[in-house]
Amino acid sequence: MSTATRTAVVTGASSGIGAATARRLAEAGYHVVLTARRKDRIEDLAAELGAAGLSAAAYALDVTDRAAVDAFAASLDRCDVLVNNAGGALGADPVATGDPADWRTMYEVNVIGTLHVTQALLPALTASGDGTVVVLSSTAGHGTYEGGAGYVAAKNGARVLAETLRLEIVGQPVRVIEIAPGMVRTEEFAKTRFRGDEEKAAKVYAGVAEPLTADDVADTIAWAVTRPSHVNIDLLVVRPRAQASNTKVHRDL
Ligand SMILES: NC(=O)c1ccc[n+]([C@@H]2O[C@H](COP(=O)([O-])OP(=O)(O)OC[C@H]3O[C@@H](n4cnc5c(N)ncnc54)[C@H](OP(=O)(O)O)[C@@H]3O)[C@@H](O)[C@H]2O)c1
Repeated sequence: MSTATRTAVVTGASSGIGAATARRLAEAGYHVVLTARRKDRIEDLAAELGAAGLSAAAYALDVTDRAAVDAFAASLDRCDVLVNNAGGALGADPVATGDPADWRTMYEVNVIGTLHVTQALLPALTASGDGTVVVLSSTAGHGTYEGGAGYVAAKNGARVLAETLRLEIVGQPVRVIEIAPGMVRTEEFAKTRFRGDEEKAAKVYAGVAEPLTADDVADTIAWAVTRPSHVNIDLLVVRPRAQASNTKVHRDL
């Protein structure tokens, strides 16, 4: 089947990496279904892609709402690619004082949200005969750092979901790809983490010559998704050159 008729679902497509991935996959020939809670933003992007002659639709969805996720899955004619991108961090407090509510929220969106959408779309992905599940974890899913435990725990959960699913469905026509980005300067990620505090958000990237952009990660996702069907890119860890590890970043300050 040509990619022109294939459908790719992107969660969290209203900003950052998800929006850039929706663009890249639409440019690669997929019909892209953009989902996120902010309907206006995904509708605007779908309209922009449509005006450029690409194929896109918008569907407002909170991935933590299982009934809504099931209704969304039932609304699709087909699904060939699922990009589980919805997620993020809340707070950067030490374990001693971190807010359990933040930990719960991060687990709900990054892990349970990914579980909901993956479970709901797996039958369609399998029925496609050539399905792909992408899980956006993070380098936080591969190593911890001070102040990061809640997010690190959640992204470890997302990583384990991807690794385990790959074991469980081997032999079925569905690939499972984990993309683990390091530092990516997106408009909202750090602002959300620090609850709108622009100064704290800016410090994350202070002096770093070139943090990754949303499009750098989208390019990586689109590359992994568009490999031949028998090629499963299990895991890609992608960092800017200035970041050697979660705790070793070169800053020109
Ligand atoms: N930026 C980084 O440095 C970095 C590094 C590694 C991994 N990541 C991961 O990459 C993904 C995208 O990050 P980003 O930097 O592009 O952040 P972002 O701009 O803050 O995007 C997060 C997206 O998730 C959506 N979202 C949040 N909660 C949701 C929910 N309950 N249901 C549905 N959608 C929800 C948001 O849309 P709505 O608010 O409209 O729902 C938004 O589109 C996240 O999983 C993040 O953890 C980011």
